[in-house]
Amino acid sequence: MRRHPNSTYARDVEYVLHPVTNARKHEEVGPIVIDRGEGIYVYDDLGNRYIEALAGLWSVAVGFGEKRLVEAASRQMAKLPYYHTFSHKTNEPSVDLAERLVKMTPARLRRAFFTNSGSEANDSVIKMVWYYNNARGLRTKKKFISRVNAYHGITIASGSLTGLPANQRDFDLPFVPVRHLTCPHYYRYAEPGETEEAFADRLAAELEATIMEEGPDTVAAFIGEPLMGAGGVLPPPATYWEKIQAVCRRYDVLIVADEVINGFGRLGTMFGCDYYGIDPDVMVLSKQITSSYQPLAAVMISHELYEGIADNSGRIGTFGHGFTASGHPVPAAVALENLDIIEERNLVENARRVGEVMQTELRALTDHPLVGEVRGAGLIAGVELVADKATKAKFNPVGKVGAQVFSRAHEHGLIIRAIGDTIAFCPPLIISEDQVRDMVERFKVTLDETATLLRETDVAAL
Ligand SMILES: Cc1ncc(COP(=O)(O)O)c(C=O)c1O
Repeated sequence: MRRHPNSTYARDVEYVLHPVTNARKHEEVGPIVIDRGEGIYVYDDLGNRYIEALAGLWSVAVGFGEKRLVEAASRQMAKLPYYHTFSHKTNEPSVDLAERLVKMTPARLRRAFFTNSGSEANDSVIKMVWYYNNARGLRTKKKFISRVNAYHGITIASGSLTGLPANQRDFDLPFVPVRHLTCPHYYRYAEPGETEEAFADRLAAELEATIMEEGPDTVAAFIGEPLMGAGGVLPPPATYWEKIQAVCRRYDVLIVADEVINGFGRLGTMFGCDYYGIDPDVMVLSKQITSSYQPLAAVMISHELYEGIADNSGRIGTFGHGFTASGHPVPAAVALENLDIIEERNLVENARRVGEVMQTELRALTDHPLVGEVRGAGLIAGVELVADKATKAKFNPVGKVGAQVFSRAHEHGLIIRAIGDTIAFCPPLIISEDQVRDMVERFKVTLDETATLLRETDVAAL
């Protein structure tokens, strides 16, 4: 029945080009059609239930089927389904949201600019920084510094900041001037015997040397996810952010915190910047801002950036940047209700408390023959699978074992993300301790099965 030509399944294979998917493989294996959701669970069209251990795409903070968000959207659509914020127009939800975000983010951030997506937000950051530096007469100060394994989106500019080969290969990226520095992942990139602090010193020295090599008058900004997400769930080494910030401040290099995954409680603090003591000039927010019930992102900028941008717009006549949906009232209304729920239900504290359980339960798998490292903070974690625990050798080829775990997990009612051979966990912030234990148990069964398979089958043949 499922493959009937009129089924969603068959029409998907016939008509859809999927993002971030091997299109030829998709023609063979077809889609899992997700039909509905409730709490931490989603159901496919055959009635199978899955724990959504990645909260969709790291984003459904309040869980699926939250009626209050549906009602907030419906109320706003009935009153004012759309209006823009170009040329001196505004609407109440977008103003309420801007005010709320300014008041809840670090004190230096004083204005909000809205977009539809994290990628557009990071494109907007690049343009704002260029516009600001032109306004300051610093016309050569335009380069960005990012990191290997960073994820900042996929548009031409934000995709240039991203440091993952799959998002750049054959897309002719990077396109904007950017340098990608060493990934701050201690397990993979520290030298033998190097402490976390010494590793952080080395990375800060690399940043400084890069700024000097490029010329401080050409380097505009450093962008980083406080804890890197899509690159493999990579927390930085101790003292990393304080050292990176000190170098940036020395050379008038702006600090951009990409909080698209970290923001709104993921690490057990409201923002990743709170967790790591970052005082950014720009903060990028999305995903959990609406629990992804509606597309929305916000760029929060400092007073200095705002003043520079405002002055220049006065001088040349306009700040000629914006989207049809910048400040759209419906996602703004959903965001406000979503933030109410996060506060009322203490979901940031839940992420901290239940996150400890998740980290402990997952770390208990460190002895498993396939597990090289378990890492993370709050309700985000990565379990890196390796061919040899002692040497940290990766599987050859990378990614086949991860893909095996990913597809097998479905059979145990578990949706996770495989990033190469790292398995990522990022469940809704509403998850309970019992549900975390259930999630880890399903993962453990999947891992054991994969280990058995690997004893019988060569990795390349998977
Ligand atoms: C840190 C970070 N920045 C930016 C983006 C891009 O957001 P979007 O997919 O909404 O364009 C993502 C998406 O996963 C992200 O994780």
